[in-house]
Amino acid sequence: MARADLRSLSSSARPVRIGVLGCGSVGRGFVQLASAHRERILARSGVELDVSHVLVRDLTKDRPGVDRRLLTDDADEVIQSGCDIVVELIGGIEPAGELIRSSFEYGADVVTANKALLAAAGRTLFREAAASGRRIGFEASVCGGIPIVGAITRGLAGDSLESIQGILNGTCNYVLTRMEEEWMEFDDAVRLAQDNGFAEADPALDIDGHDAAQKLAILVELGFDLESDSERTIALTGLREVGISDIAQARARGRVIRHVATARHTADGAELRVAPIELPRTHRLAGVRDENNGVVLRGDAVGDLFFSGKGAGSMPTAAAVLADVIEIAQSRRGALEGRRPAASRTASSPGGLVLGRA
Ligand code: HSE
Repeated sequence: MARADLRSLSSSARPVRIGVLGCGSVGRGFVQLASAHRERILARSGVELDVSHVLVRDLTKDRPGVDRRLLTDDADEVIQSGCDIVVELIGGIEPAGELIRSSFEYGADVVTANKALLAAAGRTLFREAAASGRRIGFEASVCGGIPIVGAITRGLAGDSLESIQGILNGTCNYVLTRMEEEWMEFDDAVRLAQDNGFAEADPALDIDGHDAAQKLAILVELGFDLESDSERTIALTGLREVGISDIAQARARGRVIRHVATARHTADGAELRVAPIELPRTHRLAGVRDENNGVVLRGDAVGDLFFSGKGAGSMPTAAAVLADVIEIAQSRRGALEGRRPAASRTASSPGGLVLGRA
């Protein structure tokens, strides 16, 4: 459909109201992007996005680029405002999970970047979404700006995924890069990752490997058909044991150290692992630097697919959130007009449950 047609089609539709929970680095980026691209999104996608509420902890804090009039410190005010889509960016398991459930009850679809919640309770949450006819978009929960969730759920829907190998944590990769390129001390590099907004509020989640393990758990749920919880156990080694001398020794052997998440099928089910490993310089993941992530998906039919790009940071992650918001907004509009929702990366979920309205 031509852009002009999309514009006229949308002219009678009311804006899609968005409530945002959390205004940290990603939340602020999302509000700024949604506002900066409002016209372009309307012209391209036929939906007008209107951020109506932003939940914050501290109303007095300065948030450049975010209209103060949108701010509230009352989560119920956001969820009960009648917004169409709730964007959950507060992170952690609770109260985020409760706020998402409450959003479903009030008729909103949800977009989240919350890997901790999805890894811990994704199946239950998706079941609840399906039961209430709601959808969850979660592209931003894994690998920031890289559309890896869509690549597995949609791009590889016709193939069988054999293995996943990837750098899934931007902070660990940033720390390793600073150590290998500038011989920076581990703690200084972690502080710099925090200053740049890459690290979690508690950076131990990054450097001890929990964040990468949560992301691997989500990708495995999407791409592997595992039957038991024991098959889903991830062997985890963090980054703390890597010193500058290890990096220097690896370099002397023509190799580099990367913190890599791996999932592959075995005769007994699957082997899932997150650990620092040495890679030859020629390996695709060896060239992934700074806060970038890189993922090699091996499909039975397609062979190897390599994705790389910014895996952490305000704007790349906000762009992934916004992409899900646009897709769900289009689908809501299609449902109102009696059209079937377009095929969507949000249509299949961890646990293989199919989401979306019937
Ligand atoms: N702390 C995370 C990382 C943010 O460094 O990758 C993106 O999920």
